[in-house]
Amino acid sequence: MARLRQNLAKYRIYLEPGMEEKILIVPGDFGQPNLGLDQHMYKLLAASSSVVFPLGAQVNYVQPYSSHRAANVHSTLRMIEFANSQRPKMLHYCSSIAAYGPSGFVLGSQMVAETVVWNAIDNGLPVAIYRSGFVLGHTQSGIGKPDDFVGRLFKSCFETGCYPILPAQRKEFIPVDFVVGALLHIATSPARLRKAYNLIQPRHEAAIDMVTTFKLLNGLSPTPMQGMPYADWVQRLLLELRGPLHPLIPMLQETVLGEMTRWEIQEHMAIYGTENMRQALSDAPELLRCEPMSALFERYVAQWMPSRLSRK
Ligand SMILES: NC(=O)c1ccc[n+]([C@@H]2O[C@H](COP(=O)([O-])OP(=O)(O)OC[C@H]3O[C@@H](n4cnc5c(N)ncnc54)[C@H](OP(=O)(O)O)[C@@H]3O)[C@@H](O)[C@H]2O)c1
Repeated sequence: MARLRQNLAKYRIYLEPGMEEKILIVPGDFGQPNLGLDQHMYKLLAASSSVVFPLGAQVNYVQPYSSHRAANVHSTLRMIEFANSQRPKMLHYCSSIAAYGPSGFVLGSQMVAETVVWNAIDNGLPVAIYRSGFVLGHTQSGIGKPDDFVGRLFKSCFETGCYPILPAQRKEFIPVDFVVGALLHIATSPARLRKAYNLIQPRHEAAIDMVTTFKLLNGLSPTPMQGMPYADWVQRLLLELRGPLHPLIPMLQETVLGEMTRWEIQEHMAIYGTENMRQALSDAPELLRCEPMSALFERYVAQWMPSRLSRK
């Protein structure tokens, strides 16, 4: 419970009195048989649960596919097994638009895991798939995950005063409260099972590409940032031994198609369909009104800005 409290406090979320008593914490490991639980606890949970939201996953951009296989592929099989054990349970499976490719290590494991889930759906299991874009902070507090790739990227840009020029690329940024609100609403109706929902900005015209992203961030930076070709930007990062992106440099440097790196091959990616999501949220129009990133960046920017640049 202390770990949960500590984690929530990072996002300035505090449980109201009485809420902690409703939470049962059972340590386990989704990649292990019986989800790493003893037989008694596994059976008890399998018999008493009616719905499963498996949110545990290993997300590491520099470790190979083999390191993700147990946590992401085996765990999906184990979760399906659990959802089908003792009594049938609805399973709301969290994937990512990365499952569309192009593939990376962690993304490869997501593609394989999603294939496993589609097989379960084909076999009649009550499952829905949610593919979100890059999840950013809450629309009210502006707080997001400090250590994920995007947080590190933007922090690094403000610290170094430079950013990569990446034409024709979208990252599909989406606020966390939109993702959670949409997912929970869709999950309330069994009629919406056996489909996949891309949880991204519902209005395509409000989604922004990377050129616009950096233009917006540049406009919010007290000192101007300089755009540079991707390869020069990576070279510049190599000098930042303590920079937030330093641990991810192998992923940024590695060529995966000819001379192109994983990020560079993502130019001109397909547009992700939002029909299923818009239809499922048509009875909740307030959820469909997702603020555009152009407005949200103003709320997010403080967490990425080094204190020497901060206006406060
Ligand atoms: N964040 C995004 O932008 C984003 C975008 C699209 C989709 N998603 C999907 O959303 C899900 C959650 O992502 P996230 O960003 O919240 O990841 P995260 O911050 O890395 O959290 C993952 C959680 O999974 C737990 N976990 C890892 N391996 C486990 C295992 N074998 N058994 C049980 N729990 C395990 C971790 O526990 P420990 O802390 O104890 O290691 C951690 O609490 C993933 O399926 C991811 O693909 C995320």
